[in-house]
Formats: sequence, structure tokens, C-alpha cells
Amino acid sequence: MNNVREYLKDGDIVQDDITTNRPRTTLLLRKGTTVTEHLLSSLEKFECDFKEINFVVSRNGEIVSNSSNITEAPAEPHVKTEQKDPAAVSFSESLKNDAVKAARQLFAENVTMQEIRNTSEELSHDITDTLLLAGANANVCIQDLRVTDEYTYQHSVDVGVLAAQLARRLGWGEKKVNMAAQSGILHDIGKKRVPLEILNKPGKLTDEEFAVMKLHPVYAYKELSGIRDMDNEIKLGAFEHHEKINGKGYPRGLYGDQISEIAQILAIADVYDALTSKRPYKDGMSSARAVGIMTEMMGGFNQRFFATFLNCITIYPVGSHVICTDGFSYRVEKHVPGHPTKPLLLNEFTGRRIDLLERRDISIFGEDCEEIRNKLNLNK
Ligand SMILES: [Fe+2]
Repeated sequence: MNNVREYLKDGDIVQDDITTNRPRTTLLLRKGTTVTEHLLSSLEKFECDFKEINFVVSRNGEIVSNSSNITEAPAEPHVKTEQKDPAAVSFSESLKNDAVKAARQLFAENVTMQEIRNTSEELSHDITDTLLLAGANANVCIQDLRVTDEYTYQHSVDVGVLAAQLARRLGWGEKKVNMAAQSGILHDIGKKRVPLEILNKPGKLTDEEFAVMKLHPVYAYKELSGIRDMDNEIKLGAFEHHEKINGKGYPRGLYGDQISEIAQILAIADVYDALTSKRPYKDGMSSARAVGIMTEMMGGFNQRFFATFLNCITIYPVGSHVICTDGFSYRVEKHVPGHPTKPLLLNEFTGRRIDLLERRDISIFGEDCEEIRNKLNLNK
């Protein structure tokens, strides 16, 4: 717990974005935000010293600034920092590690119903708070969230975060965003009952093994049904996250609106995370490639939700290389909030920078990889 309460008070109105540079640049509060008790509790989880943070707030009609407490010259509020990707949500190291610990608890053999409810609810609130602090246009760069190769636990956290962010972008209220996060955290809890040799099998499952695997949403629903004070939508999300809009999913083969809305967003978050995750038997795909594959699977997803999802994630991470329709390779320098396919690019060879929002004649063809180069005959 840090010293935020010594410096910021319930009711303060933030006059300029408040950021911290430690352990890395993170936007804490956006300009115009009214500080609430709830936000103060969330800010306490960041590992930073508020004495060192430059802020200006309006308090009871007076302007209160922290600049006199800061020994170093405060940064110009509008000067761009060395921020890695200002458009991406920053997750604190403690949240990332605590989230995986919490997910591990959920999958423990001796966990009680009450512990499942409390742990998943607490974690969903932490996730939602972080997303709310990041602002409406922030993207989730899922690779930044990952701290472990323990797939089941990390995947639960990832899907909770992606589902919550998609729910936010769809304009759902805070309660439903929380439910989406909680359902995402719990969606695969039924895998506890799937034998490990099937769960961790590197190759293709036999028909019999797949039949067992397909029961995990049923097991999840059964387990969660025992928790009385949990919204049914959270339970349905876990039960229906493998259903597909075109009726080709499982366990019940539901169509379209028969599938609960939370399950429809979990289906998208689940597939994206599975494709981009590293497993002992495969590397994680790039975001761009995963999105390409998911576009082919569109019939299975709610198309409106999928289109919104593309605005929630970082498709071309800062520092990655892309090939544009002008045939040149560029390094992704910076994202523009709300425009995930139009980042600022740098041609490292010529030093030329391009802003895809301005240059309507150029767009990204794909990530710079052998496959795309061969497709465009760039290696010849
Ligand atoms: Fe699943």
C-alpha cells in the first residue's frame, strides 16, 4: 500500500494527466477524473511514491499542486515521455502477479465455493479498476500482461481482462463489465475435472478424448451452480463459451442469440488468447496473425463484437515491423488511441516517418514476416 491518500483526496478533480515513471511509465489518472474512494483504493496498489509524482488537482475550488515536493524539475505536462505505448493499458507488476496467484487458487483441489466466489470477484474488480483508470480508448497488449507459462492460470487472467475490455468498448455498464471479467476468470474452471493426460496432450485429441474435453463447460456450470450469490450470467458465460453463433459449437450447439452475451465475448477473448499464447508444443502467434485466422472463423463469432474487439487489442505492438502497401517495411513507433491499424511508423532505412491517419493512400499489408514477404515477392 502506498502513500496516495496523503496527496490525493476523495472529490479532487484532476487538472492534467497524472503519470508515474516507476517501475515504468503508467497513466494513473486521466485529466478531468474525479477522485473517488474507489479510485484511491485502486491507486494504493501501484508501487509508487506519490511524493515524487507531479499532479495538479482542484480541491474545494482551490488548485492544489505537488510540484513543490518534487526535487527534480517536473516534466512539462504536455511533453511526450519515453512511454513505450501510451495507447496500451498498463498493468502494475503486483496486479499481474497477484492475478495469476488468485487464478491458481481457483484451480486448487480443496477450494471452497465461497473462496471461488470471493477470489474471482476480487480479481475481476482489480481488473476492471485498472481498465477504468486507463481510459476509454486504451488497448490491451496481452503480451504485456503475461508473467507465467502456466497456461491455465495465465489464460484465465488474460480472458478475464480481454472480456472486460471488450465489454467496456461495447458500452456495457460497470456491473456487467465486472461480470464479464469474473466469467472470463472462471470460464475454464471445469478443466479441473478433465484428466491431465488429455488436458496437456500436445498432439491432436482422439474423438474419445475430445468428447471428454468438451465436457469442461458442463463441469464449470455444475461447479458454479453451487454458488448461490453469483449472477447466473457469470455461470452461463462459463457454460457457453465454446458455443458458436453459427450453431457449430458445444456442448449444446446453441445458435446466435440463444448464446448469452457474456459467452459471446468470452468466445472471442478465449480464441485470441489461445492463439497468441506460447505452449510447450508451440510458439504464440503474433496478434496480427491471430486476428487473420479469427477473421476466417468469423461465422462463429458475433460480428459486431469481433469488430469492436479489434479496437481493444494491440494488433501491431510498438517495436514490431510491418509491411505496408507501398512495399516498404516500417517499425511501429507509437499507437494512436482508437486506431489500432493506423499506428505511427518509421522506415528505419530512410528515417522517414509516416502517420497512417494522414496518409490515406498507404495501409498496413501485414506484419513483416517471411510469409508476407514471399506473398509480395519482396525477397526476390
Ligand atoms: Fe474452454
